Amino acid sequence: MLGEHKVGPLSGKRVLVTSGPTHEPIDPVRYIANRSSGKQGHAIARAAAELGAEVTLVSGPVSIPDPPGVTVVRVETAREMLAAVEARMPVDAAVFCAAVADWRVAQAGEEKLKKDGSGPPSLGLVENPDILATIARRKEGRPILVVGFAAETEKVVEHAKAKLARKGCDWIVANDVSHTGEPGSGVMGGDRNTVAIVSAQGVESWPDMDKSDVARKLAERIATALKDKQW
Ligand code: CTP
Ligand code: CA
Repeated sequence: MLGEHKVGPLSGKRVLVTSGPTHEPIDPVRYIANRSSGKQGHAIARAAAELGAEVTLVSGPVSIPDPPGVTVVRVETAREMLAAVEARMPVDAAVFCAAVADWRVAQAGEEKLKKDGSGPPSLGLVENPDILATIARRKEGRPILVVGFAAETEKVVEHAKAKLARKGCDWIVANDVSHTGEPGSGVMGGDRNTVAIVSAQGVESWPDMDKSDVARKLAERIATALKDKQW
């Protein structure tokens, strides 16, 4: 709340978190989406607020409640998410947890597509902007600390290292989603996560944890990094 001084290791810091999937319209009633629940991103926003940060959560469509003590900006598409993120700059730390749709339909139908007897429509796709890379590569007003996520189904650390370099962020939180669709950890929509923090310093593997514990540990690590000016 404005004027209210929150006490904690992130007190006085501005933190932005993206969360959830994006929805990319095909026509007014249909869209492309993914299995992201928003649980991990929402938990990170909550944990940062609990450590005293002024937190904005930019979220795609999710069915979970808003975290307490956080300003929530709701968006649908990747392009809306990028605009909302840019509007909140500058911040001290930005955590990009959203499962942004990589592609959108080039020409979404203005009216509902109909079966007209000529067979299925072909959906011409174009690539969405990379929100994380856009912010991480900013010349001016770049957050001090930029954290990305990487959901991988194989060669998790190898792919995360490549993403770190390609996107220009400071850390990649790599998680193994190879078991999506099965019960247990690393399931999109599940409550637990097994992650590794990949940075220029190396790879730090965390044990399997509840998403809320991953969030708290990450928020504490962000607080320490901002305090020590070292990551
Ligand atoms: N991301 C983003 N904007 C996009 C795509 C991804 O901000 N258009 C962010 C995600 O929020 C995440 C990180 O980039 O923090 C990695 O996302 P991921 O989907 O793993 O990487 P991609 O570069 O899209 O590669 P791929 O899906 O091909 O593995
Ligand atoms: Ca992707």
